[in-house]
Amino acid sequence: MSNDARGTAAEPATTDPANTGTTSPWAQAHARSLADPDGFWGEAARAIDWVTEPTRTLDASNPPLYRWFPDGVLNTCFNALDRHVAAGRGEQAAIHYDSPVTGTRRTLTYAALLDDVSRFAGALAGLGVEKGDRVVIYMPMIPEAVVAMLACARLGAIHSVVFGGFAPAELAARLEDAEPKVVVSASCGIEPSRTVAYKPYLDGALDRSAHKPESVIVLQRDQLRADVGVRDTDWEEMEWTDVMADAEPTGCVDVAATDPLYILYTSGTTGRPKGIVRDNGGHAVALRWSMENIFDVGPGDVLFTASDVGWVVGHSYIVYGPLLTGATTVLYEGKPVGTPDAGAFWRVVEDYGVKALFTAPTAFRAIKKEDATGEYRHGHDISSLRTLFLAGERLDPDTYEWASSQLGIPVIDNWWQTETGWPIVANLRGLEPMPIKAGSPTVPVPGYDVRVLDETGQQCDPGNEGAICLRLPMPPGTLPTLWRDDERYVDGYLSVFDGYYLTGDGGLIDEDGYVFVMGRTDDVLNVAGHRLSTGSLEAAIAGHPDVAECAVIGVADALKGQAPRGLVVLKAGVDAATDGERIRTELVQRVREEVGAVAALKQIDVVTALPKTRSGKILRKTMREIADGKDAVVPGTIEDVSVLDGLRDVLRPHP
Ligand code: COA
Ligand code: AMP
Repeated sequence: MSNDARGTAAEPATTDPANTGTTSPWAQAHARSLADPDGFWGEAARAIDWVTEPTRTLDASNPPLYRWFPDGVLNTCFNALDRHVAAGRGEQAAIHYDSPVTGTRRTLTYAALLDDVSRFAGALAGLGVEKGDRVVIYMPMIPEAVVAMLACARLGAIHSVVFGGFAPAELAARLEDAEPKVVVSASCGIEPSRTVAYKPYLDGALDRSAHKPESVIVLQRDQLRADVGVRDTDWEEMEWTDVMADAEPTGCVDVAATDPLYILYTSGTTGRPKGIVRDNGGHAVALRWSMENIFDVGPGDVLFTASDVGWVVGHSYIVYGPLLTGATTVLYEGKPVGTPDAGAFWRVVEDYGVKALFTAPTAFRAIKKEDATGEYRHGHDISSLRTLFLAGERLDPDTYEWASSQLGIPVIDNWWQTETGWPIVANLRGLEPMPIKAGSPTVPVPGYDVRVLDETGQQCDPGNEGAICLRLPMPPGTLPTLWRDDERYVDGYLSVFDGYYLTGDGGLIDEDGYVFVMGRTDDVLNVAGHRLSTGSLEAAIAGHPDVAECAVIGVADALKGQAPRGLVVLKAGVDAATDGERIRTELVQRVREEVGAVAALKQIDVVTALPKTRSGKILRKTMREIADGKDAVVPGTIEDVSVLDGLRDVLRPHP
């Protein structure tokens, strides 16, 4: 393969992370991936079955946009299922579905999963779904969600999974942008405290959306059945079992490596979600490589990723990573605590012989809160468990120390984001386990040239904080662009520092080359590892008839990492003393109904004014710093400092 990016390929990283020297497998791999991406990714690509093997690795003819394996042809579903069955893994478990909230367990072998997927692909094809069409999947953590994803991949259709915890406004925004031909959903999701009816949310979203699909398929769950086909709609509504009963299995459609596999919407600072595009070829190569080199999970091993298929962690490490590898994945419909207790993860590890567990730090904070001494673990044999991986939010040293001391196995932080699809910084357990420093996800993963830049775009000295940026081109698997919006991609990510992708996170690289990620430099919220937009929450609040203006900030929370807080200014004539309480209750409810319960907005304060710059920008960061009890930096451009001073008491953390 040849690399036509030679002119722009990154110079080798200037640091020697971990001072491991050239003999270190990680240092060698990282240096080679940047100096010779052609050789490095060309070799990695051999782990994938291609219909037409790529002769080129990187197409750099249109910077700052890059495409990997431009002339390769493959099918991702074939690589995730058919080839494993052909290689004799048909009877191996592909998915262990474990649902404490419904009291159900089901194991799907690779052969059974292939059968379901090829039949559902046939059903979709029967509804007119073709290569390049979009299918929105709005489902809870059930095997059919995975079946629907892989069926799309089989047809070369582009899936867009929407997290089940999102309410109509969020779902509608995604429907309008993705313009799906078909929507696949379920009658309900099950939360420990309640059964969540999906169909009314879906109907509400479809009513709001200017785009209407041609068909809606609903999987009926016994816990709560939905009314299907009883409304007068422009689209056809049908039940999953009916479409499956008539479906003929269908084969894999060839797609270009550069064709999109999926769109996954993520939150920016505005209310308009960003449609992250994932390609087929680069994604398959990168995820397959990451499974053994980062996660040390190979064919036949069991990976338990306790996240949700609606998030990128779920896409990559519940579905595609393990299945592309011929490993077994656990699909867990439950919580770390309360389903039924803080021993739930240990029971799953024991029952399925889990080798690696991957979740968010917040899950461990929840377990620690309920079971600080680890009593619930003692009844379980978790000797199969080699590594705990944590990502999705900062791993605070306290949680790291607690999890390490409790489990006595390596606890591995890894930093990445929806946009990259797989870890940017990690301690690569397969390639070369490294010493762990609490608070750092360790070193840049091969393929990523991680730099910390100051405001002028100069590289910061070791130990100094700045904006964490990735030198272009980024490795395979990372986003090539935003869905139908190259301009927004370039403006939002590639324009601040020429030649770099802006991650939106601030942090530093220390003398040993260890990367420390300190948090977002923008107003994106991270609540229990869930990425949420201040803009969406503010839009829901601002829609209330009594609200003049509002701001949402993310403040430190002992369990969820961050919790949103709302500050509202009421319209003239609305009396805060008499109506404030009612309005606050209505606003909490509005956010639940518009954005979703997952936003977890509980605290709203009525204030008389919001602090702003002279150009009218609300000083969210300054308010956040005060709320977190930090020394707040008050910008010189503040319009009226007395407004901020008046808020200090409201914002300040209360014991
Ligand atoms: N569908 C519908 N509602 C959902 C939902 C879903 N898929 N997921 C969450 N919700 C609801 C919850 O029921 C809860 O509603 P409530 O306010 O009526 O109780 C609300 O959204 C907030 O949910 P959550 O943030 O999950 O908080 P929690 O208090 O129920 O649980 C944790 C706290 C820490 C146990 C939980 O957040 C967790 O397991 N986190 C793991 C991290 C994770 O999966 N991160 C994803 C990225 S890796
Ligand atoms: P998402 O796109 O939902 O995966 O969220 C990505 C964001 O979550 C990142 O930009 C970070 O702000 C945060 N994040 C994810 N993993 C980590 C981590 N290991 N350490 C610190 N922050 C993290």
